[in-house]
Amino acid sequence: MDRSLATLLRSLQTSEYTEDALRLLPTATNLLSRLSNPLNITLLTSHLLSHDALFPQPIEISPSRQIFSVFYTALLRLIEDKQDPARERLRSHLSVEDWVKAVVKGADERSPRWRHTLLLGGILLAFQSRQFEELRPDLRNKLEAALVTATNLALQQKDAEVNCELSVIFVVNHTFPILSDFHQSQLQYDLLLPLLIDATYFSKEGLEHGYWVGAIDNDIRQSSPQKFNWPSASISFKKLAEIKKRSLLTALGSLSRLTAHCIDNVHDRMLIVHCTNRIGDFARTLATAWRQNKLSEIDTREEALYLDQETISATLPALLQLLRDTMFAAVITLRSVLGRLLCDPILGADNIAPGLAMQTLHILRDTYFIAHRFGLVSSSQYTFVNFTAIDVLSRYQPQSENLLETIRPAELGRIPAHPLDRMRDLFFLNTAEHFTLTVSSRMSQELLFNAAAPYVDPRGDPRLGEILEAAHSVMLAILAAPQNGEVATKNVPFYVETLLQSFPMPLTARQFRLAIKSIVRLAAPPSPIAVSMPLMQAIILDLLRERMEQASEDLLPPNPDLSLESQQPLSERANLLLAIIDCLSSLPVPLLEEWLPLTAELLQKVKNPSQKQQCQQCLWAALSDGEMDVDRAATCVAWWTSRGGREHVMLGEQPEEQDYMMSGALRFDNKL
Ligand SMILES: *[C@@H]1O[C@H](CO)[C@@H](O)[C@H](O)[C@H]1NC(C)=O
Ligand SMILES: *[C@@H]1O[C@H](CO)[C@@H](O)[C@H](O)[C@H]1NC(C)=O
Repeated sequence: MDRSLATLLRSLQTSEYTEDALRLLPTATNLLSRLSNPLNITLLTSHLLSHDALFPQPIEISPSRQIFSVFYTALLRLIEDKQDPARERLRSHLSVEDWVKAVVKGADERSPRWRHTLLLGGILLAFQSRQFEELRPDLRNKLEAALVTATNLALQQKDAEVNCELSVIFVVNHTFPILSDFHQSQLQYDLLLPLLIDATYFSKEGLEHGYWVGAIDNDIRQSSPQKFNWPSASISFKKLAEIKKRSLLTALGSLSRLTAHCIDNVHDRMLIVHCTNRIGDFARTLATAWRQNKLSEIDTREEALYLDQETISATLPALLQLLRDTMFAAVITLRSVLGRLLCDPILGADNIAPGLAMQTLHILRDTYFIAHRFGLVSSSQYTFVNFTAIDVLSRYQPQSENLLETIRPAELGRIPAHPLDRMRDLFFLNTAEHFTLTVSSRMSQELLFNAAAPYVDPRGDPRLGEILEAAHSVMLAILAAPQNGEVATKNVPFYVETLLQSFPMPLTARQFRLAIKSIVRLAAPPSPIAVSMPLMQAIILDLLRERMEQASEDLLPPNPDLSLESQQPLSERANLLLAIIDCLSSLPVPLLEEWLPLTAELLQKVKNPSQKQQCQQCLWAALSDGEMDVDRAATCVAWWTSRGGREHVMLGEQPEEQDYMMSGALRFDNKL
């Protein structure tokens, strides 16, 4: 036997401690790549795989990675040696293929299956990274098949064996992308999926339930009378830094794509439900842990006020980045869950689908503080998950009501002090808006209406911007739902009054116009509102006109939520006129005939020429852009062409009384 091999094997045998054994790996790698006798290669491999000190308990990724590297590196070196004439004397005489066969033979009965995956995976990855062309397809095929078999057996035996999951996941993650489609499909996804979820969200090499997010609280100190500090020297920050370096978490994206692939392919659908619930557990714990953390008590917009420089620029962003990646991993997984639900009759069945949709919405709610901060809610994956979950659940009334009851604001009728609770209210309102057609009108009144009410208070803080808008959307959705005729009738007067008092503060012009337009449309016959309050539309228009006549022509401050280029500054008065113009397309013809000349008259009351011109353009657009139905469009054409509308609008000339009398004889001239 080769002398250096004999020495190495002896050292290996006598190294009982992991540290000592691991220290021999570079020598082993070197030797392995240069041996020429296949029996020696097999012998060394077999010794490496069966030497328990090299595989310390509990199994962690790092030592497994080192064994993986032995085979990976040895093969790379063998290939390099072959290509380098200078290494003629040193190199192994075996062909690459014979060498590989000899190594693989060392994966024998003396070592458990999961360790074989390290060897097979290392070799396959080395071939891949070299793009080694001489590898015969049948050998590659055999290697892939052997890897898949070893992986499946390791997964099946894992209870009998030690917990080898992390090691197996490490190998699968690295080799999965290079396996052929056929071999990918041979993996036992049913065994792999739960392991992946556990490893990512719960294991000690993954996110550890997210408990550490709460522990950060202990390290947050007051650093000046007004500011707080989370030092980078603290235990909790060091823990975060260590977590972020974990190999499972540095490549969370690839791991979650693998998880998603498992979800697409598992046979047992209940595993999908189970895994979604597990992610739900994680999200709930994370949300609780974040609440325990003082950092959550600071409104995002006030961080600069209450946090010191180190926290703002170093420690907090590091935490948020990991939370964002985590959130995104969960969304990628959920996208597969819902994608499968949509086309799978078992998951889509009535006994499973609503539960999955509810769990999904709970996860989105628990992680909303992250998604919202980073604007992830507008990413296509998030939108798909959110939209599909809402769409599926809203087909089931009892479950929809159940969800809304569970996520309702803790205290109705008040705006909570904790930013996290306001965030939850925002989630609630954004979600509830889409259930107004599903839930009973009683729930609309008692829960949804009352939850939105404090946010539509005209004395509201304009900084609530987004949530205020969400509350108005809920109001409008409630009023619009056909089953809510009674609720609507009861609340419209209150709501209109609120709207009028809410402009120009706290509602922005855009929000105000949208709300007014929607209400006037809802009040159009033959809606329940129109039946019980036939004058509602006329009343609203009159109120707007009254307000307009007293309103100021000073420009309103620009809306901070919109880019400056996209908005032209207008006054309160001009905006009230625009609100009236917006409504024209939903007025019944007689009321429209009355309001066209009134609008033209109001237009003359806008004194500022540029604002007046903008209003003119809007009126022109409203009359001509096709939002009007045929009858209304005809009315507008007639007014514009034959009844002096054009002159009234363009020149401010009142039509002569007799012109008006001639209006019976209409000439149709569709220039509009
Ligand atoms: C998973 O595999 C990818 C390559 O496919 C790699 O970039 C990533 O680091 C791996 N992750 C882990 C946890 O090993
Ligand atoms: C979910 O989607 C709906 C409909 O697109 C949207 O209105 C709502 O704001 C979204 N929810 C969240 C939490 O982003």
